[in-house]
Formats: sequence, C-alpha cells, structure tokens
Amino acid sequence: MRLVFLGAPGAGKGTQAKKLVDKYKIPQISTGDILRAAVAAGTPLGKEAKSYMNKGELVPDSVVIGLVKERIAQDDCKKGYILDGFPRNTAQAEVLDNVLSEMKAPLDAAVDVDVDKDILMKRLTGRRTCKKCQQMYNIFFSPPKKEGMCDKCSGELFQRDDDKEETIKRRLDVYDAQTLPLIEYYKKKGILKSVKGTGSIDEIFNKVCSVLEGK
Ligand code: AP5
Ligand code: MG
Repeated sequence: MRLVFLGAPGAGKGTQAKKLVDKYKIPQISTGDILRAAVAAGTPLGKEAKSYMNKGELVPDSVVIGLVKERIAQDDCKKGYILDGFPRNTAQAEVLDNVLSEMKAPLDAAVDVDVDKDILMKRLTGRRTCKKCQQMYNIFFSPPKKEGMCDKCSGELFQRDDDKEETIKRRLDVYDAQTLPLIEYYKKKGILKSVKGTGSIDEIFNKVCSVLEGK
C-alpha cells in the first residue's frame, strides 16, 4: 500500500503513520523527521534546512524531492510506504506522480486528517518527543507518567524548535496557502480519503483503517 498523509501541522500525521507502520509493516517516510535528523547531525543538508524550518517555511522543493526519490527507491519500500509531510505543495505532488508513474507504482490513497485550528495549536504547543525512541506525548492530552521522561524507554523528552507559538502560526499559514490545495488535487485523481481528526488517537486510527479498507 502506497499512501500519502495530508493534514495541517499537529493534525496527527506522525501519530497515525506510526500506528499504520505497526499494522501494515510498511515504512513511514517523514520528510520532517529526515530533515530534523540532518539538522541534529549538522550535515550540509541540515545546515541548509534549519533556517527554513525554524521560520516555519517550507524547505526548497529541490532539496526535499531529492530526499524522497532516494528513499522510495530503497528495498524496504517495495511493498509500500506511508509518506508523512510530503508532498507539501502542487509542484511536489506533480513530481511524485511522475516518478511513481515511471516506477509503475502509483499511490493507492491520500488520507486527509482534518482538525480545527484551535485544537492544532494546543496539540503543537503541548507536544513532547522522546530523544531516544521518538515516542510522542502531549502535556495536555497524553502526558508522560513522569514529567520530561519517556514511559517506554526512560529517554529525555524534548520540545521541537518549531513548536513555538509564532512559528506555529506561520506553519499554519503556509499550510493554508501551499498544502491545502492538495486536497482538491487528490480528490480530482479519485484517491482522496477524508477523516475527521478529532477524538482519541485510537478512534481516529479506526477511522483511518476503515477508509483504507473501503469500509
Ligand atoms: P513536519 O515535521 O512535517 O511538521 P508538520 O507538518 O508541521 O506536522 P507535525 O509533525 O507538526 O504534526 P503531525 O501532523 O505529524 O502531528 P503529530 O502526530 O506530531 O515538518 C516540519 C518542517 O519541515 C516544515 O515546517 C518544513 O520546514 C520542513 N518540511 C517537512 N516536509 C517538507 C516538505 N515536503 N517540503 C518542504 N519542507 C518540508 O501530533 C501532534 C501532537 O498532537 C502530539 O503531541 C500528539 O501526541 C498529539 N495528538 C495526536 N493525535 C491526537 C489526538 N487524537 N488527540 C490528542 N492529541 C493528539
Ligand atoms: Mg509529524
């Protein structure tokens, strides 16, 4: 199964993608995670991406498209994958379609997770992630048992640099201007599946699985 996850910052793309990885045994490809790892490692890619990410702007298409092309060509993607955070604008979506049509492996679905803006802000300002195992928490909705520490591996929790209120506002504006049109793009292609992204993580996961399995 080859999937794209659409949805605003904080909609739960990463949370739901991780659950699909467990269920369908296909990899999650998160361009945000790849870029954050490059920033943390201080690579040339990370140095280029950092200033865009900290402002809440998109990293240039040329950079991100190259990363995704390379990743989906790897062996573990043969049975499918979940793209989380890519494509982010029409240009990226068109390139992806061309690449996948050359590979004779088109997308099966684009899942849009729809969440109201006031909830998004709380989800993003409250998000904490484990440095060691990447498990996600939310200080408002799903706090760890011990403040600042991962329940699963006792790793230290951190807050993303772009989860500051001003940067979140910019990310939400960039989403409206550049990413929202992709809902119509995939609707026209007949592969859009929409899910209301409010309720518990498990409730939303059930809805995602239902639309994917055509129920
Ligand atoms: P990226 O990492 O993709 O961030 P984003 O799109 O802003 O989305 P988030 O990761 O913030 O949210 P999410 O939908 O994954 O939500 P999550 O599951 O974490 O991109 C970051 C930056 O990288 C971009 O700004 C850009 O600069 C660059 N970039 C990345 N891709 C790019 C591309 N293709 N082109 C150009 N630039 C690119 O959940 C959020 C919180 O809510 C968590 O705390 C979670 O626990 C909680 N939560 C989730 N579901 C629920 C629920 N049902 N109830 C209560 N809480 C919940
Ligand atoms: Mg994410």
